[in-house]
Amino acid sequence: MLNGKKIVVGVTGSIAAYKTATLVRLLVKDGAEVKVVMTKSAADFITPLTLGTLSKNEVSIELFDESAWANHVMLGRWADLMVIAPLSCNTLAKMAAGACDNLLLAVYLSATCPVYVAPAMDEDMWKHPAVKSNLTKLESYGNKVIPVTNGELASGLFGEGRMAEPEQILDIIRTALAKKGSLSGKKALVTAGPTYEAIDPVRFVGNHSSGKMGIEIAKSLHEKGADVILVLGPVSGDIQLNGIKVNRVESAQEMYNACTTIFPAMDIGVMAAAVADYTPVEKADIKIKKADSTWSLNFKKTQDILKNLGGLKKDNQVLVGFALETNNEEVNAKNKLQDKNADLIVLNSLNDAGAGFGHDTNKITIFDRKGNESRFDMKSKKAVAEDIVQAIIKIIHA
Ligand code: CTP
Repeated sequence: MLNGKKIVVGVTGSIAAYKTATLVRLLVKDGAEVKVVMTKSAADFITPLTLGTLSKNEVSIELFDESAWANHVMLGRWADLMVIAPLSCNTLAKMAAGACDNLLLAVYLSATCPVYVAPAMDEDMWKHPAVKSNLTKLESYGNKVIPVTNGELASGLFGEGRMAEPEQILDIIRTALAKKGSLSGKKALVTAGPTYEAIDPVRFVGNHSSGKMGIEIAKSLHEKGADVILVLGPVSGDIQLNGIKVNRVESAQEMYNACTTIFPAMDIGVMAAAVADYTPVEKADIKIKKADSTWSLNFKKTQDILKNLGGLKKDNQVLVGFALETNNEEVNAKNKLQDKNADLIVLNSLNDAGAGFGHDTNKITIFDRKGNESRFDMKSKKAVAEDIVQAIIKIIHA
């Protein structure tokens, strides 16, 4: 199943490293080409000779070994998937902080492929808030955490913290790489976040979009093998998206310029941004001073990006828009489908608690051009993104 797939296996210092021998063997047996990168302390638990023999490739450890240093970027780019198993508490903390004091970390930081980690630690360590926060950080960078299991730990205690079994890790890798294929070779443009329309050098008109929905869609498309460009409005927080190109913009006009330039070469366009419909007619060059007791601003319409892309759309392109409605939801969503020449409109209603701006969950209905409506339950935005991407895949492979 993994025929021809290239996998970097990272190994860190933990007693669970003995299981990595089985993992490497299973991956190779399944057809994968495996290269192992270890930390020095991992070599205290399992020998490079064992992993080198099982992987049929030389094992890399030292960062400043001349050839390894030159190769760390290539190794990160070579792989279709990187799995770090076991992941120790120490390496986890370094990955969360972006530290780079060994070859494994250098390969991780250079990796353009999906990265999976299989933590292994004692239960008390596993439950420590610092570890939890590092894991959350790692996930926010787009890495996937393979859950630990319950059982006997190296300390002799029983509890949570055991590294997942090699067979289970193999299954997860197979699924990840199988999924990855379904959009491989396809190019996708996704917009996300709000736009800021400047009033003067210090003020703007904006909205509360967090960009979460579009970011999850970009990740999901990327996981299925698409080359993704994310045109992202001004959202706060450090957004790290392994392997996704991010094009930061601020205003609706900048987003329009980026999208109309990029879209013609794309197979898929998903317009999830909350674009301002109006922008101030004039932007003052200097800060506007307060004067009268009331103040009004003149606005003009912005360009409708989705509608413009709908006009440019060729038969082999799939275009997806969103509709955020408070009333007449279905009628408005269906009108947007026609009016903007989209293939799918994703309706999210502001009437559902937990759906829409700022939340981590969303509840959607997808409308297509054949008149089908697919209703979904309230789910995490990640799971909603998966549903939207499946609907796109259905059209692409129809
Ligand atoms: N959209 C866009 N460019 C704009 C405004 C909206 O591309 N200037 C896109 C959004 O990204 C979304 C879809 O159009 O995919 C619908 O956005 P929405 O705000 O729900 O609707 P509008 O078209 O702005 O219409 P209205 O405000 O009247 O509901």
